[in-house]
Amino acid sequence: MSTGGHDQSSSSGFHRRAFLKGSGAAAAATALVAQPVMGAESDQETPIVGPGMHKLVLSVNGQDCPVEIEPRTTLMEVLRYQLNLSGCKPVSNQGVTGGSTVWVDGKTVSASTTLAITCAGKKIRTVESLGGDQPDAVVQAFVHHDGMQCGFCTPGFVVAVRAFLDKHPNATEADIRAGLNGNLCRCGTYANVIQAALEVVKGGGNG
Ligand code: FES
Repeated sequence: MSTGGHDQSSSSGFHRRAFLKGSGAAAAATALVAQPVMGAESDQETPIVGPGMHKLVLSVNGQDCPVEIEPRTTLMEVLRYQLNLSGCKPVSNQGVTGGSTVWVDGKTVSASTTLAITCAGKKIRTVESLGGDQPDAVVQAFVHHDGMQCGFCTPGFVVAVRAFLDKHPNATEADIRAGLNGNLCRCGTYANVIQAALEVVKGGGNG
């Protein structure tokens, strides 16, 4: 049948409306197939927790610390506000300054962008582990070289320097500058921080 003088069938005999109906059904079928597969994978790999409070034990600086948190709680919030480990600084909630740098299972991470719940069963280490009666060589070098002004970025820098020199004990100044480029200091104490790190390299205080 002709509609308004325009035949909707193509010369090949393929009907445009039939094509649109067919392609729409195909797209819907694709979506229906794709979604359950993704859901099945996440169901297997990600246990559902919350939205209420959740109890877990975090291993922090060698101690088991029972905490009760909402699943959305960051590691920084737990360290500072539940465990009173205030060396971890809330400079940014996007992890762009390095102010909340801590170790989790030996790797440096931003505690501001790490959910505490993902750290269960892992070993967390903070800047406080470098203090005590015999402070780590990096801490002492920061004191010698006055590697701080307001001090807000300093704990993150101390962790970053310690972690970098653990992996690169013979680092050059250029290495150190590159290795610390994830940490920002708004007071601009970079020169003194670099000198502190170089003192540790020269003094053999690594490891
Ligand atoms: S010493 Fe103030 S931000 Fe670094």
